[in-house]
Amino acid sequence: MRPGGYETVETITIGREERVFVLTGAGISAESGLPTFRAADGLWAGNRVEDVCAPEAWRRDPWRVWEFYAARRAAGARAEPNAAHMALAELEEQLGSRFFLCTQNVDDLHERAGSKRLLHMHGELNKARCERECGRAPVEDRSIYRSLDEVGRCPCGGRMRPHIVFFGEMPLEMERIEREIRKASLMVVVGTSGSVYPAANFVHWARMNGARAVYVGPEDPLNASAFTRVVEGRAGEALPGLFVAK
Ligand code: APR
Repeated sequence: MRPGGYETVETITIGREERVFVLTGAGISAESGLPTFRAADGLWAGNRVEDVCAPEAWRRDPWRVWEFYAARRAAGARAEPNAAHMALAELEEQLGSRFFLCTQNVDDLHERAGSKRLLHMHGELNKARCERECGRAPVEDRSIYRSLDEVGRCPCGGRMRPHIVFFGEMPLEMERIEREIRKASLMVVVGTSGSVYPAANFVHWARMNGARAVYVGPEDPLNASAFTRVVEGRAGEALPGLFVAK
């Protein structure tokens, strides 16, 4: 036992009747070479949220916003899924419909690792949608734009924006997320600092329903005390083999 009551665990068993809800954050893609947000050399150290990830930023200077996401698209296209993404895809193979993955990440490394029961609550880097919320669905868009002139318009005339949930906007599909959390007996959270809501509350919702909750990452998240277990380590090292499905 560590001071604070956390255990070092070898494996965690998932019972036959159990359902698992997994929440991932930027930390799971760190070993694929994609920077996290809040590290000293992270994305928010070099870019102000107010300039690149806010509705006002989009209204003021849409090119600055696209420039930021175009660079992230380029980095995402170069990255490959790591052992942690693969471990979650394998767990899904074993658990089938008893598994659900919600990611705060906008990269596509989970789907490229094979995850299918997957929801991107903060949007997707490789999609764009109309700035006017005109009702048309987001479209696939992998272009690495070099100027605002290259960015297309929706048939309704609105400019296409990154399909990214900006600060101050509602995360996607919250009702479905809440439903899946209610069904889960085990919540697994990987590589997120626990500083952005509502995602940082998911562990509390799961615990209120009586679920166990496990955190995996190299340092305690802000909401560490809400977890029943904290497994310290890099996701690519700690996740493979951590869960044993009965
Ligand atoms: N394995 C697991 N976790 C790691 C690793 C690793 N190899 N490396 C770093 N981490 C952990 C850090 O300890 C940190 O707790 O990943 C976490 C990353 O935290 P943040 O940078 O705050 O990223 P995240 O929690 O995903 O941010 C949430 O904030 O800016 C928004 O919309 C953005 O989805 C993002 C949200």
